[in-house]
Amino acid sequence: MSAEAILAIDGPAGAGKSTVSKQVADELGLEMLDTGAMYRAVTLAVLQAHVPLDAPAACSEIASRVAIELRDGTTWLDGIDVSVDIRTPEVTRAVSVVAAHAGVRSALVAHQRHWAATRAAGVVEGRDIGSVVFPESRCKIFLSASAAERARRRQIDEANAGRTVTIDELVADIERRDQLDSNRAVSPLVQAEDAQAVDTTGRTIDAVVDEIVQRYRAANPSGEAVDVSA
Ligand code: DC
Repeated sequence: MSAEAILAIDGPAGAGKSTVSKQVADELGLEMLDTGAMYRAVTLAVLQAHVPLDAPAACSEIASRVAIELRDGTTWLDGIDVSVDIRTPEVTRAVSVVAAHAGVRSALVAHQRHWAATRAAGVVEGRDIGSVVFPESRCKIFLSASAAERARRRQIDEANAGRTVTIDELVADIERRDQLDSNRAVSPLVQAEDAQAVDTTGRTIDAVVDEIVQRYRAANPSGEAVDVSA
């Protein structure tokens, strides 16, 4: 299939992408691919292999060798469920460095295109989905939120995971990751020219989800993509 019916959702960490993408996918009756989880899984494999994060060839070799599977919100690395392991602070700190290697990105982009090629449509969330992976997508959303709001959301996630982190630490971490993600040479985090910007600051998840569902349906009116009401 062509990737025109892929709903591309990009944006920085903490803009609400995961929650919003999941709900949008449920409402449209589509599967969702969390590409951040793929970069996290490769990073975990790199850490486990004790390979230096800044070694492009070794990281890329790992990215093309490991088997990553995403199933119903869980992430599997070489047959092992790593859904929890990929969310540790250690992986979160390391992932921007690993994701900056061209070889790592090309291995995972190939994987993402294969995923799309075997489906009629789908929701794919990440940083470069509308700009690089599926430029032909008819509906591209770029989610954003203020750094303060993103830090507040992260603090709730961290508390739920049993970790106490100050807002200042979180803002610093968010700004550091934005900086790395936006300034890397390969596929930086950037809003595609034809993406629609959606600022989630101060809005409810439901309101944002409704807006994106409507935009997707407007861009895919024939329903050729799917029987979305199924
Ligand atoms: O969305 P997330 O925080 O789980 O993403 C983890 C990291 O992976 C983040 O630092 C950016 C990177 N990433 C990327 O470079 N390209 C993507 N398509 C998705 C994530």
